[in-house]
Amino acid sequence: MELIIDSKENIAARAAKQYIDLLKGKPNAVLGLATGSTPLGLYAELVRLYQAGEISFKDATSFNLDEYVGLPPTHDQSYKYFMMHNLFNHVDLPEERIHVPSGLDTSAETLSGYDAAIKAAGGVDLQLLGIGNNGHIGFNEPGTPLESLTHVVELTLDTREVNSRFFQSLDEVPTHAATMGIRTVMNARSIILIALGSAKADCIKKTVQGPVTAEVPASVLQLHPNCTIYCDPEAAALL
Ligand code: PGA
Repeated sequence: MELIIDSKENIAARAAKQYIDLLKGKPNAVLGLATGSTPLGLYAELVRLYQAGEISFKDATSFNLDEYVGLPPTHDQSYKYFMMHNLFNHVDLPEERIHVPSGLDTSAETLSGYDAAIKAAGGVDLQLLGIGNNGHIGFNEPGTPLESLTHVVELTLDTREVNSRFFQSLDEVPTHAATMGIRTVMNARSIILIALGSAKADCIKKTVQGPVTAEVPASVLQLHPNCTIYCDPEAAALL
């Protein structure tokens, strides 16, 4: 994998350039998207580029990584809401080509249908990832089988505590999520992982320099043929 260490602002601009290049060459590209604090700078940059007429999503398709189980799309902490608010409401990606796993219907049929829909769309061209302090990608917590497809996971207490900053209390943070599996993520033709801040330094060291192990789900990216890891200097501090 390629490692790029740069400022938060430059990372947003450089990652956005990958989207411009992809969509110029393939306007109907399939984008794998992520939520969390990490992609906010990138999404703001994509909105700016769209408003400046430099990028269009009108023929693209998107698949988000994950969603909290139990939250309807209208809930202000659901990932569908996050995506509408931070990206989709501001660009020309048609609503019918936006996909976020359902937090309400987690039947086996619906979960496997998510992988089938990705396949039917031609597969993900560029998958965006953040990384959890424990090395999770999507909501694939440590120990998730590397061959997993879209499934429901029980969130670790650590993940729920980290995410409780967006809720009134820890009790309100959902205990489960529907997430693309590690195999689903690895099937993407190219991957961007962004890590910002010192809380990510330890998991980035394990991801980049440690053994490939299900205990650090992001370490599997070492095996991906086209993965770029963008770190700010704080996240790269232990490399
Ligand atoms: P964050 O979350 O971007 O809010 O740090 C990343 C993740 O948990 O994957």
